[in-house]
Amino acid sequence: MTSSTPGATPPDGTEQLPAPAGLDDVKGWFFAADQLLFDWFLTRQKDLAEAGDLLEVGAYLGKSAIFTGSYLRPGERFTVCDLFDGPADDSANGAEMAKSYSTLTRRAFEANYLSFHAELPTVLQGLSSMVPGRVAEDSCRFVHVDASHLYEHVHADIATARAVLKPYGVVVLDDFRAEHCPGVAAAAWQAVTSGGLHVLCITGTKLYGTWGDPAALRAGLAAWLRTRTDLWHGEESVAGEPLIRISGKKAQLPPQPVSRHPAPPRAAPSRTPGTAAAPRSHPPLHRFAANVLPPFLTKAAVSARRRGQGR
Ligand SMILES: C[S@@+](CC[C@H](N)C(=O)[O-])C[C@H]1O[C@@H](n2cnc3c(N)ncnc32)[C@H](O)[C@@H]1O
Repeated sequence: MTSSTPGATPPDGTEQLPAPAGLDDVKGWFFAADQLLFDWFLTRQKDLAEAGDLLEVGAYLGKSAIFTGSYLRPGERFTVCDLFDGPADDSANGAEMAKSYSTLTRRAFEANYLSFHAELPTVLQGLSSMVPGRVAEDSCRFVHVDASHLYEHVHADIATARAVLKPYGVVVLDDFRAEHCPGVAAAAWQAVTSGGLHVLCITGTKLYGTWGDPAALRAGLAAWLRTRTDLWHGEESVAGEPLIRISGKKAQLPPQPVSRHPAPPRAAPSRTPGTAAAPRSHPPLHRFAANVLPPFLTKAAVSARRRGQGR
């Protein structure tokens, strides 16, 4: 995560917009295991020619939106909804915003997004309750719900996701089991036990589900997970249905979206003779591979390098 304050306004009044050189530089909460799962679900939809729009409710500075936008195909629309620096509607949501997202601005989101993509998504600035009027029912193949953590909002966001998703669509619910978000947990499990949502898998932070037929998705996911040495998984039964639990502590990042900004030059490390060089924050092969090679070669090159390091 970057340590600078995105969108901050210095004393001379000019806004310092972020210029991330990589997704790592975009502040947010989107971990390696979830990046791998987004990649798996969105690539599977492409392979099966499952068309549809993408929706993210709760974008913050764009970390997961930038990643998701890489999977947009011609003729599809990506809609992002966030309050950004606008007002919340109720005091509880306002307190949530002031506590967790005080440095957020729409301009910083847009600067981050345009560092990786030629065009912005369709941006809806305001409460997530505006989404049903702006995104058509049965139009989406992938919806990421990651906005307010309050039960009433999340319950409504899940209902929106159900309405806009196509039968083969996938919904992702963030923070469904975080200690500070009991309202998300309540809304998520209510959708499962009495709202027809089938859980496909869970990670430490996100729940992946569908209101369509889960059988083929579960089978494909289980087969893929058996090939991954960096993701632990186990199967359990919850409320009479199978559920795959995934631990991604050793997860290796999938190919990353490429920024148009060059990485800042690194200062040459000052070394005392006989001491080891400081570790690099971005392995050069990973950056080269992610920038230049097709994804399947990138994955192979990065895995080979990691195997060489004994990880
Ligand atoms: C956890 S952050 C999103 C993180 C982002 N998806 C990422 O990967 O970095 C939650 C976002 O939801 C937005 N938000 C909070 N309440 C909202 C509401 N009622 N309607 C729309 N957006 C809301 C906040 O402004 C914040 O940017």
